[in-house]
Amino acid sequence: GKPCYLLGIETSCDETSVAIIRDGKEILSNIISSQVDIHKRFGGVVPEVASRKHVEDITMITQQALEEAKLGLDDLSGVAVTAGPGLVGALLIGVSAAKTIAYAKGLPLFPVHHIAGHIYANRFVKEMEFPLLCLVVSGGHTELVYMKEHGSFEILGQTRDDAAGEAYDKVARSLSLPYPGGPHIDRLAHEGEATISLPRAWLEAGSYDFSFSGLKSAVLNVLHNAKQRGETIKPEDLAASFQEAVIEVLVEKAFRAVDQYGVKQLLLAGGVAANRGLRERLTARSKKEGVDLVIPPLSLCTDNAAMIAAAGYIQYQKGVFADLDLNANPGLPL
Ligand code: KG4
Ligand code: ZN
Repeated sequence: GKPCYLLGIETSCDETSVAIIRDGKEILSNIISSQVDIHKRFGGVVPEVASRKHVEDITMITQQALEEAKLGLDDLSGVAVTAGPGLVGALLIGVSAAKTIAYAKGLPLFPVHHIAGHIYANRFVKEMEFPLLCLVVSGGHTELVYMKEHGSFEILGQTRDDAAGEAYDKVARSLSLPYPGGPHIDRLAHEGEATISLPRAWLEAGSYDFSFSGLKSAVLNVLHNAKQRGETIKPEDLAASFQEAVIEVLVEKAFRAVDQYGVKQLLLAGGVAANRGLRERLTARSKKEGVDLVIPPLSLCTDNAAMIAAAGYIQYQKGVFADLDLNANPGLPL
């Protein structure tokens, strides 16, 4: 039959992104306008500034996405949009834009959970096989998610304090690295040795929860103590030691869950999925244990609208859509 062209919109944080995908799996366009340079000078995302920039950019980015896909609004089969979680003012811009297009063109509207989007970025790599486990590591989330079928998400464990990406960004800040710090720590870590002893939060036996604030504080202590003693710490070694502590816990817990739940696949998702050390370690361990590991390409790890459209496609297939009174929900549960 006629192909399904879904428009995806993502504005939950500091990326304005619009994408068009065909039949749930093929990206025709995925325009991403990052505001990183605007927020950099503040050392983090300023919500009010983010909203205003989304308003400015959303129409042009939508037009660009359509042009690159060589399609018009009349060709679309539906509109998928991130409805939460995220910054409420930022989310509202995407939700309003999506509702406008859906209303004007009489299209179904698919509200997508941001993390479901990150998980579905993997669908551009390989068909999902259930049950599966996904390790979600982003700036706002660290979760082990069990999926028994499309659209079903069971959280086995999650962070009790900082998200993995948040810990990366805070440690980077303490080393005076620019925002977002994750990629900088990743780069430094590969130039250093993990020689500094830092704690790992394993938590209670059998728990799939995470905790990174103790590790972050330990890094700050190391820097503080060195300064007081007039010693110098090689930032490369501190970055390598921190990265090692993060990766060790993430990988170990993920594989324990793979064993316990007997899943067919292990997926990686979220901005921290771009981390070279984490990708290498997961790949090596999967090979050793014969686990089918799926990792999105770097371009689909951080926030983008193609992943939102991919998650929306599941709702399209099920015929589940939202009413036009859809609202943004900054605390939307998965
Ligand atoms: O998923 P994402 O783009 O936004 C959220 O939904 O949070 O993730 C952004 C996070 C930031 O904390 C950033 O520092 C981190 O992902 N990140 C990385 C790397 N690339 C991005 N962390 C570690 N290593 C990287 N290579
Ligand atoms: Zn994200």
